[in-house]
Amino acid sequence: MTSQIIPVDPFDFVIFGATGDLAERKLLPALYQRQRAGQFSEPTRIIGASRTSHSSDEYRDFAARAISDHVKPSEIDQAELKRFLERISYVQVDAQAGEGFDRLKEEIDGENRIRAYYLAVGPALFGDIAKNLSGHGLVNEKARIVVEKPIGRSLASARVLNDEIGAVFSEDQTFRIDHYLGKETVQNLMALRFANALYEPLWNSAHIDHVQITVAETVGLEGRAGYYDKAGALRDMVQNHILQLLCLVAMEAPFSLDADGVRDEKLKVLKALKPVTNGQAGKSTVRGQYRAGASAGGAVKGYLEDLESATSDTETFVAIKAEIANWRWAGVPFYLRTGKRLSERVSEIVISFKPIPHSIFGEAAGPVVANQLVIRLQPDEGVKQWIMIKDPGPGGMRLRHVPLDMSFAQSFDVRNPDAYERLIMDVIRGNQTLFMRRDEVEAAWQWIDPILAAWEENGQKVQGYTAGTWGPSAAIALIERDGRTWHENG
Ligand code: BG6
Repeated sequence: MTSQIIPVDPFDFVIFGATGDLAERKLLPALYQRQRAGQFSEPTRIIGASRTSHSSDEYRDFAARAISDHVKPSEIDQAELKRFLERISYVQVDAQAGEGFDRLKEEIDGENRIRAYYLAVGPALFGDIAKNLSGHGLVNEKARIVVEKPIGRSLASARVLNDEIGAVFSEDQTFRIDHYLGKETVQNLMALRFANALYEPLWNSAHIDHVQITVAETVGLEGRAGYYDKAGALRDMVQNHILQLLCLVAMEAPFSLDADGVRDEKLKVLKALKPVTNGQAGKSTVRGQYRAGASAGGAVKGYLEDLESATSDTETFVAIKAEIANWRWAGVPFYLRTGKRLSERVSEIVISFKPIPHSIFGEAAGPVVANQLVIRLQPDEGVKQWIMIKDPGPGGMRLRHVPLDMSFAQSFDVRNPDAYERLIMDVIRGNQTLFMRRDEVEAAWQWIDPILAAWEENGQKVQGYTAGTWGPSAAIALIERDGRTWHENG
């Protein structure tokens, strides 16, 4: 099966932080893939911008290495790569000193073409870059700015950043990336919910017992100790990715896929999240930090050794029992957990339905397990609907819990694009459905801030967990106290 490619208008794509990790691992490979798929129209150009001095040739070498290191060899076509490199140039820019923007202006066509400024830099530079772009006449009506998380480390700091960007770019020119929204299965969640009549009537507290959202990683700090130790798992993963997933599970049906239609509904969910008070934080949240152990097949160091520091109270794991105070979800817990150096890399959403009201089967039939819908984001993207059936065979009535299993890789012979490919093309198309609106980011912080404050005020320390396990035992107790268990893969 082939997917349909609709070319986008020609554009200039400026990457600030052009030699950084994100540009190398994600942005350049994603742009290459979209060109290879035939999605570019000419003339489309990519301009790297950063503080270090490089010639355009040197930057093209960097881009070529990025493609060879991060794109599968079978997907690298030399003629295509040559065409890709030809559209690349480099400008040295120092945003704090305001230098290099005139050169950038010379580089960008005088024509009124789409300009995307991608800020693959720390948030401390957002304001300076926006101001300089505007001061040098680089913001036309087709300009747009793309920013990455973290957008602040609290509601107050997020507001400052949003104000700095908003002073130059209007909200519909501002694209706040949450790359989870670009993942194939995340969008499938919307298809599953709103393109089927089957689930929606059951999608509420009358029929759903609870929801679990797990984003488990086996990796550790990956050279990002400086950022991560100041952030921690709650800010790094829950404030954005996990809350966005929660919104897509819990939101009402939007009137259409229109960007504000979807974002209005997500915002309502965020606003309905029950605040976690100081008194509850000890019971409904767990903070963990990995210790030495084995992960992804080898011995790994503990967090403090990775950090090369004797002390740190930063959490590399967090589990939360969240509640949404509205008619649809009152009384349905949402158990959230994420962590580094866990047992497996797996991101999934589990919708656990309520048990049947009465069993007509005798004890010999075995237990009747409640239905579960498991939406697997990664790896092995797919959907499993667990149901009860009769064990096949001539014997008596014995029941069996089995999945209706839809693995996307097995069912469709189509390349699964990286989230950045879709999101970058949406930036060019001007489609904001999969990007976070200012009020969403701020509402998410509004829920996160009191948790951070409670941890601080209550002195809630991290609990150690051995690398390669599922986190501290308190995370298991968090759900088992309620008579439920974390979903095991299978
Ligand atoms: C990033 C976090 O946003 O998401 C990282 O900052 C994390 O800490 C990453 O590793 C996970 O993304 P993915 O796509 O690999 O699940």
